[in-house]
Amino acid sequence: MAHKILDLYPKLTYLSEDELDFTEFTAAAIPVLPGEKIELTKSRFLTAIQNFTKLDLNIELKNWPDFSAKAGEIIEVPISAGSLTRIYLVGTGDQSEDDLRKASASLGRKLKATNTVLISALSTEKTKIITHGVALVLSNYQFTLKSEQKDKKPTFVIYGDFEDEVAHADLLASAVWQARNLIHTPSNIKNPEWLAKQATAMVSAAKNSSLSINIKSGRALKEFGGLSAVGNSSPNPGPRLIEVSYAPKGSNNWPHVVLVGKGITFDTGGISLKRPYDTMVEMKSDMAGAAAVLCATVAMAKLKPKVKVTALLMAAENALSATSQRPSDVIKHFGGTTVEVLNTDAEGRLVLADGLAYADLELDPDYLVDVATLTGAATLGLGRQYAAMYTRQKTIAKKLYEVGSQVGEKVWHMPLIDDYSVALESDIADFNHLADKFGFSAGSVTAALFLEKFVGDRNWVHLDIAGTGRSETDAGENIKGGTGFGVRLLIQWLGSF
Ligand code: BES
Ligand code: MN
Ligand code: ZN
Repeated sequence: MAHKILDLYPKLTYLSEDELDFTEFTAAAIPVLPGEKIELTKSRFLTAIQNFTKLDLNIELKNWPDFSAKAGEIIEVPISAGSLTRIYLVGTGDQSEDDLRKASASLGRKLKATNTVLISALSTEKTKIITHGVALVLSNYQFTLKSEQKDKKPTFVIYGDFEDEVAHADLLASAVWQARNLIHTPSNIKNPEWLAKQATAMVSAAKNSSLSINIKSGRALKEFGGLSAVGNSSPNPGPRLIEVSYAPKGSNNWPHVVLVGKGITFDTGGISLKRPYDTMVEMKSDMAGAAAVLCATVAMAKLKPKVKVTALLMAAENALSATSQRPSDVIKHFGGTTVEVLNTDAEGRLVLADGLAYADLELDPDYLVDVATLTGAATLGLGRQYAAMYTRQKTIAKKLYEVGSQVGEKVWHMPLIDDYSVALESDIADFNHLADKFGFSAGSVTAALFLEKFVGDRNWVHLDIAGTGRSETDAGENIKGGTGFGVRLLIQWLGSF
């Protein structure tokens, strides 16, 4: 059964100040700043729209005494001036990047699934246009397999000469959008082979010789004991190691970043079945890390930074079947490390261990970053707004913290607590992967300590996105489900090399 997915990605563009002509639009957005007396800031745009509509918008504003202009609060003024039917007076809060993001998302959401053509003057600051554009677009995200679908999508025109900013916003938003499509796809459609086909299609669609893809399956995965043990629980079509590279001519001397993504296309927990059972419903998003590293890497072809990037998507289904691995099995990872498997629901670290070891032993990375919906403990600790970041490298941690805060994908530097390492001891193998001995708790920390055993001396960062990878509600830039977390963070970071 082939499903039809409509392309509902909004159009995002800009308009030079001199070309302003309201007859082209059906709606306009104007910022409102909070303060003791709420009044619209004088601007060329305000004058122009008041002349065009013959309205005094400050009088309109006075009709709403409770309006405080906090970020995202919107007054919708119906008008009739040519094709222009709405003016949105949008509270932009304290003018911070975060508040502009909230305001833009709330405006974008209002216009979701409409044919509105909006001219937006919410921000005229060059540095904030990217945030504005991205939030307008992403708040429009939809994923539906309904048999009847509405093919309506807005056009967003940002007021001002922002060609480069709008192009970059479009690059970021479309990469996140693609990641969300992969994450929202149900697991009866998406298996490791499907993910490999999607990656192949994205690489060929980029039509750029700097991108290439290599897919390992079957016997080629013999040495990848973790990926095989997890993925062979669902032998048809079985696990895949999907390697996507951005390596333009001359990139051999550039820094090399290897990104490893957890690509569990569905996580039942395996024989250590996930309980309570309804927690399983979310587990189609257990490949969000793989989606993020894939979409960020493909975006490199347009961004063209001076860094070589290899994405390793560790794709497997963690199924419950006669070929599932058993608690107590001992597996051998790439590179030879043996691991005692105590709980088949801690499968993410097993597939990542192979990816990290392979990167360390074969790819000579200058930076090794993994992204994974790894532990419920990360969500317990930080909730859904911050991802847990583990690394010994303070400089990279600081950089990723800053980039994350700027793009709205925040990460928090967590400690790799060496005292807890003894929890990884095993009587029968080099390590056990569960690390729940001695009752240290700290499940996100001990998972990170396990991964660290496979990274050699590399500059390594682990991002546990179990909390941020999904949204529980329709809010801000997100709808309920996969968020695409990590895409913007990685693109901005890689773009800074
Ligand atoms: N995919 C889950 C982690 C997860 C849980 C992601 C909830 C998003 C939301 C992972 O494979 C898992 O099952 N982790 C276990 C590890 C435990 C068995 C040590 C967990 O966190 O409970
Ligand atoms: Mn699991
Ligand atoms: Zn999982």
